[in-house]
Amino acid sequence: MKAEAKRQLYADTEEMLALQDTGTVQQARQVARLDARQYTDEAQFSSEKNRIFKRVPLMLAASCELNEPGAYKTMDIAGVPVLLVRGKDGVARAFLNSCTHRASPVAKGCGKAARFTCPYHGWSFGREGNLVGIASRETFGDIDPDDYGLIRFPVHEQSGLIWAILDPDAPADFTAFLGEFAEMLGGFGFENWHFGKRTTLEGTNWKLAFDAHLEFYHLPVLHRETFGPDTGNAAHYQYHGPHFRLRHIGKRAERTGFDSVSLLEGLPREAWPTEPLFSGEWILFPNVSINSFFQGGRGVIISQVIPGNTVGESVTVQTYLHKKAQNEEEQATAAELTSFIAHVVRDEDLPMSQDQQHILSSGIQKFVQFGRNEGGLQHFHRWVEHCVSTDEERPLADLMAAAPDIP
Ligand code: FES
Ligand SMILES: [Fe+2]
Repeated sequence: MKAEAKRQLYADTEEMLALQDTGTVQQARQVARLDARQYTDEAQFSSEKNRIFKRVPLMLAASCELNEPGAYKTMDIAGVPVLLVRGKDGVARAFLNSCTHRASPVAKGCGKAARFTCPYHGWSFGREGNLVGIASRETFGDIDPDDYGLIRFPVHEQSGLIWAILDPDAPADFTAFLGEFAEMLGGFGFENWHFGKRTTLEGTNWKLAFDAHLEFYHLPVLHRETFGPDTGNAAHYQYHGPHFRLRHIGKRAERTGFDSVSLLEGLPREAWPTEPLFSGEWILFPNVSINSFFQGGRGVIISQVIPGNTVGESVTVQTYLHKKAQNEEEQATAAELTSFIAHVVRDEDLPMSQDQQHILSSGIQKFVQFGRNEGGLQHFHRWVEHCVSTDEERPLADLMAAAPDIP
């Protein structure tokens, strides 16, 4: 890890320790309002597709999901079908999942393949996206296969995570967007972790679904049956460009976790164990959150909230990764954890956002509010607004340089 990212990890942690001591909650400057149409308007959603999801780098997979040449995964992101595959050369690539003959998907689901053969007329593509076979080539006519490989998106693999920009013409410039946040995430060591399980949950507007990941205010109320009514509802936010961390603060919160910063109290910095440096939730703009768990050994659940085809549809994909190989008992414990977290989101968070979507769609309530204790929500929505109000022709570096005022 680069020295600056390491310094930042320690600085974040020292700030948390100081706050734990004083029990202070840092508040946003003001209560903010958001127009209800942000969640219901198709034109707004169309701008988000063009100015966010086809413009900024999206974290699409953990490296260990594509753990060998030929390992692949397909996804549909705001109407763009994507094929991610690792090549013979070990490089992860992303393509439009579409045959260059007549636009049939060349892969479904995930798995391992030596090549991708189109189910319509049988053209085939290599793992590096090159067109390797044209059915009945002699009668099809004369085309140069080198011109008709799969349409390729820029990809960046760092810290055991894979990002892509869903614009084939975009420059492969990821650093301005990722900043040191991706570098800090490198401390998890995800490149050596293992893929455990993937769960897909259907939901409503992607921002309503994602909002629930960005505050702890609702934990003791909406999740009183699952996390319990004594769960702390205070979060401390640490912003890194559009991305941020949120960490539990206060009694029965940060102090109780295995990765708690309170484990560091009284220890000299040189003696700090590593885990607490990574505590809390890591939010990767625009739609990913990473949460640590310790049941079944060290693990994380990565939640990707992926917009669907319309303003009122999304899917939440929960991907469980674990650090070490697991024995049977650990596997069973991890299976309990993943079904518990799926239950919380499927049966508590997502039904709530369905209800919100329904009410906001009536058009009668004109706005929602984000409290001074919900600074991360204010931050997220300001970045959404910043991206949407900046013409898509503006380079990504410009967009990042003109960062919005943080509440
Ligand atoms: S659409 Fe793929 S071979 Fe025809
Ligand atoms: Fe929740």
